[in-house]
Amino acid sequence: MTQSQPVCLADYEVAALAALPTDRAAYLFAGAADEITHGANRDAWDRVRIVPRVLRKVAGGNTKVSVLGRELAHPILVAPMAFQKLAHPYGEAATAAAAAAQDALMALSCQSSTTIEEVSRAGGSARWLQVYFQPSRDDTLKLIRRAESAGFEAIVVTCDAPVTGIRNAEQRAGFQLPPDIRPVNMEGFTLPPFQPLNEGESVVLDRLTTFAASWDDIAWLKQQTTLPIVLKGLLSPADAQLAIEAGASGVIVSNHGGRTLDTAIASLDALPDIAAIARPAGLSVLVDGGIMRGTDVLKALALGAHAVLVGRPILHGLAVNGALGVSHVLRILRDEFEVAMALAGCRTTAEITDDIVRR
Ligand code: FNR
Repeated sequence: MTQSQPVCLADYEVAALAALPTDRAAYLFAGAADEITHGANRDAWDRVRIVPRVLRKVAGGNTKVSVLGRELAHPILVAPMAFQKLAHPYGEAATAAAAAAQDALMALSCQSSTTIEEVSRAGGSARWLQVYFQPSRDDTLKLIRRAESAGFEAIVVTCDAPVTGIRNAEQRAGFQLPPDIRPVNMEGFTLPPFQPLNEGESVVLDRLTTFAASWDDIAWLKQQTTLPIVLKGLLSPADAQLAIEAGASGVIVSNHGGRTLDTAIASLDALPDIAAIARPAGLSVLVDGGIMRGTDVLKALALGAHAVLVGRPILHGLAVNGALGVSHVLRILRDEFEVAMALAGCRTTAEITDDIVRR
């Protein structure tokens, strides 16, 4: 990058890599294994081309969308991401303040380095809590109740990470969570009992995955809360059908930013088939992974999403300039999205239909 201010999200990426120690950057920005899915997410957006309409009246338009029945000023949401104090000392509180400043709904990771209540005080009202099922259902419920009390509006259950992916970049960089950055929402939670492996048992299949969520857990959760449930990390249309049957209110088409199963399908490539099943059933459909331009947001909506989530670019902004950096990243994306709509001839998000893109 030159000495000038960042003007697009890629500029923030370069600046963030320069600003952070390599081990933190490896945790925050790398993908799993060979990072094929991480790269494929990005490539997929670039592969789709826009077929703009001209001479249509776009003046007086807007970027409003409806997600889970709530009207949002625009379709750009902040993805749940763990341990944001690795990027900046103010961590998730800075992200929350910036999201509020940009009218962006924020999903908070249960593995945040700032408490649910602190984030709630940091500003804004549009918030979802993302949860991983805990070894104890009581502990999982504690997270839900805290989210309810703090005014969070939905529970996101992440389904695509029953175990951590193969994080070679982190291993090479020797990343370890520093002692002052912790999953503060989970203090005092019950840890799974230590049981040595028996002959023939697998550490992954007989230990680490024992407490991972299953469809039964979603049915259980549905009975515990009146908050809408959004399932994150779906790539198969068959799972979208199961999500409908389980009573989910939304799905996030996602491969965790290529951080879990490497060589999984790019999220954009999975989007149209899932949208075709989930939208008619009344579910909100979101997508994330590799979104770095307003044109990507336009393409996502054209291919069936109601909204998108943005991950790493938020952390880039946070690392470079705290809340101001995150706010600027969101502002850039919003502005780019408006320009993309105007140039494609779309006055409202309802006019962003699949005939304006070619895959
Ligand atoms: C994540 N992601 C994630 N997802 C989730 O459901 N719970 C979590 O705690 C985390 N933690 C997390 C940490 C970091 C450092 C990153 C980069 C990502 C995945 C995230 O929500 C989202 O799916 C992807 O980041 C989207 O891809 P992009 O926008 O980063 O390419």
